[in-house]
Amino acid sequence: MARSISLASEGVYIAPSILAADPLNMSGAIDSLEGSHDWLHVDIMDGHFVPNLSYGPALLRSLRSRYPEDVLDVHLMVEPPESFIDSFLEHKPDFLTVHCEATPHIHRVLGQIRARGVHPGVSLNPGTSVSVIESVLSMVDLVLVMSVNPGFGGQAFIPETLSKVVDLCRMRAVGAHPFLIQMDGGLGRSNLELVVRSGVDVVVMGSSVFSTPCPGETVRTMKKLALEAFSYGKKTF
Ligand code: DX5
Ligand code: ZN
Repeated sequence: MARSISLASEGVYIAPSILAADPLNMSGAIDSLEGSHDWLHVDIMDGHFVPNLSYGPALLRSLRSRYPEDVLDVHLMVEPPESFIDSFLEHKPDFLTVHCEATPHIHRVLGQIRARGVHPGVSLNPGTSVSVIESVLSMVDLVLVMSVNPGFGGQAFIPETLSKVVDLCRMRAVGAHPFLIQMDGGLGRSNLELVVRSGVDVVVMGSSVFSTPCPGETVRTMKKLALEAFSYGKKTF
């Protein structure tokens, strides 16, 4: 049974994406965070669901053994996810997120993840409406709203995706669902306040963290800014 992570949005979680780290020095990059991060975001790309390749289950095995205390947040950009989830679940991620566009059996897949004691997450591409996942919102602990088209780091943020966050906040309140709302792609200092004030609980940051000289310092600064924005309260759009 994986450990239970608090789903109460008592603030904002920062999840650096290691896709932006130097692949020849991954542990050096993670250590340069100096433990400032809340979660570690791990992007798995299959060259099919997205036009890029990244890592396999072996990386998760190494991350789990090297960083046993870290919250591992695995973002599966693979199709079909049902062919891969067991090989990742074996290494006990905390969160395992699949794309609703990658399988006709999203309900079954989310149930399989939960049955293995891992927090299930569901993700939406920019072109996918929130209504597509309405019937599985009661099954998930995380909803990942992509703010770029998945497949690469360093892309520009798509502001129109923020309206989905507002919709999800309303659907969460109406359904009394426990899920956290995560946003991923093109996030950094310039849009952090906007994203947090729209209702995002977990902010993924790749290039805006690992392209800086001191990633640990960067994350500490982002956390401070995020907390300030969070304390302002939600912005009505
Ligand atoms: C893209 C990935 C993201 C990406 C974020 O498909 O899912 O997690 O690594 O990188 P930035 O923050 O540079 O957009
Ligand atoms: Zn991601």
